[in-house]
Amino acid sequence: MTFKKASILLKALVPALIIGLALCGCATSEEEKDSRPKDQVTVGFSQIGAESDWRIASTESMQSTLTASAGYNLLFKDGQQKQENQLLAMREFIDQAVDYIILDPITETGWDATLREAYDAGIPVIIMDRRVDTFDDSVYTVWAGSDFLLEGKRACKWLRTYLKSISFSGDVNIIHIKGTTNSSAQLGRTKALKSAAKKYGWNILMSEDGDFVQAKGREIMENALATYGDDINVVYCENDSEAIGAIEAIEQSGRRVGSDISGGEIMILSFDATRQGLLLTLNGKISVNTECNPEYGPVCDEIIGKLKDGLEVPHEMFMEESQFSAITDIKEIKVGDEIYPVTMVDRELIDARSY
Ligand code: AHR
Repeated sequence: MTFKKASILLKALVPALIIGLALCGCATSEEEKDSRPKDQVTVGFSQIGAESDWRIASTESMQSTLTASAGYNLLFKDGQQKQENQLLAMREFIDQAVDYIILDPITETGWDATLREAYDAGIPVIIMDRRVDTFDDSVYTVWAGSDFLLEGKRACKWLRTYLKSISFSGDVNIIHIKGTTNSSAQLGRTKALKSAAKKYGWNILMSEDGDFVQAKGREIMENALATYGDDINVVYCENDSEAIGAIEAIEQSGRRVGSDISGGEIMILSFDATRQGLLLTLNGKISVNTECNPEYGPVCDEIIGKLKDGLEVPHEMFMEESQFSAITDIKEIKVGDEIYPVTMVDRELIDARSY
């Protein structure tokens, strides 16, 4: 083909291409929506990542509940620990005109504009697990999650009660391995520790971001042992993955993990109560494990069911959570005016744990 012939052909094709692209561009969201089976609910789920066993359990809970046989078309996006990926996923869901969006936000801020877009597009948004800090909270339909401050208070109150029960009079020197900075889970658990430390005169020797990841928990603990050595007697880990990493580092250094801090052991406090975390609680390596419930599938299914039927849902819903230990002396703790039971961990309980 000569250059002249090719350019004539191109000129003829360009308008057709432009029309084709334009048609395809404006058709996507509405046509896509119309082409979906009417009895199927399309849900876009923007998950944070897969940083911990807890996170994997929450993804599994969603994927095993919002199934095709239950009438769902679940679009799953893994944010790989980055807010920009989660924002991108939300925009895609809006463009696809999904029926509902479920968002587990990595951090609390930075969601206003995208949530407003979803709201303007008429897509109800369910925020799960962590919170968003928005200028106007009507841009999302419901938040269902944990009371992270209460979790932290329960952990600290357990420690206080334990120290009293053994009449411990020495210094309480804590290494604090934080969760992802500015995530609700970190903010609540950290706030509780800081105020308990102030109230009871505990020393927080070091406080570092472990991002809820085992490898970082281990690295932080190795550094802490190198810097503070034998002074350390308590480690406050903001999840089980970090606790597992910290335990590895302590044992490798030759120190022992356990609740006998007068006898030189290092006591570990943890959150989540995953199967792995509960096993470590049963064998005494984690002294107290405050639960964070990842079973969001059934909760979101119920919320969507109600919204579909035009029923009211509360704007805030809290997950039910327990606290576990193998130390039989402490059966309950008091936070404010509330009494909370401490559940004794046993084999049966662990076997019943699916995550
Ligand atoms: O937001 C919940 C926290 O995030 C869990 O404690 C932690 O394990 C997870 O990664």
